[in-house]
Amino acid sequence: MSNDIKIGIMSNDIKIGLFGYGCVGQGLHDVLNNSKGFRSNIDTIVVKNKHKQRRLPQDAFSFEKNDILDKQDIDLVVELIDDAKEAFDITKTALKNGKNVVSANKKMIAENFEELVALQKNHGAGLLYEASACASIPIIRTLEEYYDNELLESVSGIFNGSSNYILSKVINEGLDYPSALAKAQALGFAESDPTLDVGGYDAKYKLVILSGHAYGIFIKPEKVFNLGIDNLNEPIIRYARDQKLKIKLIAQVVRLDDKNVTAFVLPKLVNSDHPLYNVENENNGVIVRAAFSDEQIFIGKGAGGHPTGSAVLSDISANSYDYQYEYKKMSQANKFLFTNNVTIDIVAAGFNEDLQKIPFVSIQSQKQGLIEGKVKLETLIALQNEIRSSGIFIATTGEPEVLHTTFKNKDALVEV
Ligand SMILES: NC(=O)c1ccc[n+]([C@@H]2O[C@H](COP(=O)([O-])OP(=O)(O)OC[C@H]3O[C@@H](n4cnc5c(N)ncnc54)[C@H](OP(=O)(O)O)[C@@H]3O)[C@@H](O)[C@H]2O)c1
Repeated sequence: MSNDIKIGIMSNDIKIGLFGYGCVGQGLHDVLNNSKGFRSNIDTIVVKNKHKQRRLPQDAFSFEKNDILDKQDIDLVVELIDDAKEAFDITKTALKNGKNVVSANKKMIAENFEELVALQKNHGAGLLYEASACASIPIIRTLEEYYDNELLESVSGIFNGSSNYILSKVINEGLDYPSALAKAQALGFAESDPTLDVGGYDAKYKLVILSGHAYGIFIKPEKVFNLGIDNLNEPIIRYARDQKLKIKLIAQVVRLDDKNVTAFVLPKLVNSDHPLYNVENENNGVIVRAAFSDEQIFIGKGAGGHPTGSAVLSDISANSYDYQYEYKKMSQANKFLFTNNVTIDIVAAGFNEDLQKIPFVSIQSQKQGLIEGKVKLETLIALQNEIRSSGIFIATTGEPEVLHTTFKNKDALVEV
């Protein structure tokens, strides 16, 4: 591994202004140093902490963001910091100055999605963010370019590497939850604030981004229900083991009919036939279901410096041939709306008195510490904070109830 910043800039080298030299920033640096066919050069690196020990000499760093933002000859801003608010500020300033940006910051993009799309349009600058959703899996460009005209039924999967790593360690290896979380953090899979991962927020931000590219909609993250794995408890672990099921944290956006999609993040109980049953550790898996191509599955590393750096490199490379997202689904005639008015099958595990507070539409079975039944997603959202604080673990056991299955019902498709 070379720790050198490349010197001797050729006139056709792309000059990069890099924000952040943490897990992903260093990963990108390694990837760029080992990239044979692509010429780029990190011109300036801006970080935050003046007293941190680093693998490069101190004079390789700046602590002043305008050293990049005001520098005319920087071709591309690469934003890899862990502060979504500051990342938005940097990205907005760069786009307004007509500078293209590459980012991996799913929180920043999901929370400001509509404004970021407008900024690109208004200032003629591009923002690429393949690394923000499932790191090394090239899912954004696949939805944008390959599935631009397919009738998508759903995009779902394991979008959070550290939760999946923790579930693998706890369920398969019997490790206790705090030790599994500590291991995920030590390996650089977990976000600086682990609640983002284990609470299902990180997966939700990715889901919001993918929903935009799959269905052309901007969904406000706060409208999307997310419950993670932080309430993992003995009753649910026992239930899963007894039935030979695994628990996976699944984010899903599902087309309910010709007008409506729903989206949510919840753990799911999966059996050995499920395509994601054997996706373990920090790996992510994305399932795209479509009317004509049927089911496609993408599996790969969803976290870590090098896999994420590799996705950033791909965006840097795409930027070099002027690639920009066109947000094709957003300009198509069929406009989808987002709804939480959907019924889902769940199993809830916790203390009996807490479980009684869940407003089940119907109950299928009930025993000590466990209730299985149907519940409306919108009623769960209203109880979100109470569910979190009471330690109830909820997992889905099936697919959301689809309202009108025009695309699934092949008879309804136009034959020529
Ligand atoms: N880690 C992953 O596997 C992964 C995967 C996909 C996407 N991402 C995303 O990639 C981004 C970076 O993640 P990371 O894991 O590399 O984080 P990290 O290891 O915590 O590193 C964060 C870096 O950002 C710098 N930073 C923070 N605030 C800053 C500011 N105001 N100005 C300049 N620099 C600032 C830090 O500076 P100091 O060095 O001075 O502290 C540090 O170098 C995040 O948006 C994350 O969501 C991460």
